[in-house]
Amino acid sequence: MERLDKLLASTGQWSRSQVKELVRQGRVRVDGIAAGKPEQKCDPAQTVAVDGVPVGLQKFVYVMMNKPAGWLSATEDKRQQTVLDLLDKPLQRRGLFPVGRLDKDTTGLLLLTDDGELAHRLLAPRSHVDKVYLARVDGRVNEEDAAAFRAGLVLDDGLECLPADLQPLEDGSRCLVTLREGKFHQVKRMLAFRGKPVLELKRLSMGPLGLDETLAPGQWRELSEREVEFLRTAVSERN
Ligand code: URA
Repeated sequence: MERLDKLLASTGQWSRSQVKELVRQGRVRVDGIAAGKPEQKCDPAQTVAVDGVPVGLQKFVYVMMNKPAGWLSATEDKRQQTVLDLLDKPLQRRGLFPVGRLDKDTTGLLLLTDDGELAHRLLAPRSHVDKVYLARVDGRVNEEDAAAFRAGLVLDDGLECLPADLQPLEDGSRCLVTLREGKFHQVKRMLAFRGKPVLELKRLSMGPLGLDETLAPGQWRELSEREVEFLRTAVSERN
């Protein structure tokens, strides 16, 4: 049993004070009966409706964003805009965080959620959740680079990278890089180590989840239940 105001506020659609007002105005019903007090106890299995519309008391929220260049993958920053600023107010109140970081100038698929457990599993290398990036480089990548990635690079600073996939595209000025880990600036550091510095980087997918290309940079949408299920399956297979 949980307080009604807490449950409703946890959906991110209303603040606690807005919930109080809704209850006062008689707009909240629990199993068809008008709620008397915001603090009344209620079971998440009960049907709660606001203005006659049942409220999905979802436990967690999952958002896919096409991250634009120039925004920080962080929850807050004193000086710079973060990806959280791109969400609407109710979602900002939910306390979502990015699942792994993309650099400020990197674009593409960014997942945001308040489900810490799933986020942790998605990022753990032992979950084998591949992340695929499209990189444009200064120079041309070739089969030798691909073989070096497959063997597992050891960078100048001693960083040992797990075996990774590199697929040159067209004339080699662009390539697909698939990693199952996510160390700081990893794609950029790996390609720079091969003498092909990254000029542009975009994440295309994370495990079974591909970037929805109908999302313009800066746009986002919630994941469908099916997509969340795919993610859960991807991490449960190895954990
Ligand atoms: N690797 C990078 O170098 N940068 C990113 O943003 C993501 C992966």
